[in-house]
Amino acid sequence: MKKLIIAIDGPAGAGKSTVAQIVAQRLGYTYIDTGAMYRAVTWQVMQHDVDFGDADAIQKIVSTIQIGLRYVNGKMQVTANQVDITEEIRLPEVSRVVSEVAKLVVVRTAMLTLQRQMAQSGGVVMDGRDIGTHVLPNADLKIFLTASIDERARRRWRELGDKGVLVDLNALQEEIASRDKTDSERAVAPLVQAKDAILLDTTKLSIEGAVNEILRLCEERGRSV
Ligand code: CDP
Repeated sequence: MKKLIIAIDGPAGAGKSTVAQIVAQRLGYTYIDTGAMYRAVTWQVMQHDVDFGDADAIQKIVSTIQIGLRYVNGKMQVTANQVDITEEIRLPEVSRVVSEVAKLVVVRTAMLTLQRQMAQSGGVVMDGRDIGTHVLPNADLKIFLTASIDERARRRWRELGDKGVLVDLNALQEEIASRDKTDSERAVAPLVQAKDAILLDTTKLSIEGAVNEILRLCEERGRSV
């Protein structure tokens, strides 16, 4: 079967990274978490205490950052200029501002180039907000994964709690809703379902259920390409 390019988009906490990772594992594909790339840039910007409106300073940071995404003992490790920031990029202080950094043109342009290079040889599952619409418009399969805001906030709350990061559920729900709004309303590559994407609502669907549905669609697409 030809190696497919699979794009999974959707709002925060819909289960994209969990589902995308399992799908990639089952198919022997590479998983690319583009959200981690935007988080890495945001973390780096935060280290320099730069104003998000200072396009020149941000451009400088973006042009010198080397983002590494690799698997170490079955877990994805994220590095920025060789510094391991896997845990740091998930912290609430990064989540609170990541959408403000991700909406900047200089940031998006650089990430777009990198992400297209990473997907070049196929056999990839890439997740994010604009993969099916902008990064990989010719993907073989596009999924738009979503769930109710209540369910997404609860999932993220449990996920953070498992890592010992305790946050207020209501505050978390507000942060997710505000991020969804910024992501959906930005001028460049906003979060929107691609016309040819398949909508999967995971509010009542288990991880395994979502994975199986995507694998079934892959088989269907694989046969027709
Ligand atoms: O894990 P979670 O769903 O909370 O978010 P993420 O996938 O880590 O993405 C963090 C943020 O990066 C998003 O809220 C977007 O602002 C931005 N992002 C983006 O703009 N485009 C992408 N392709 C992926 C993420």
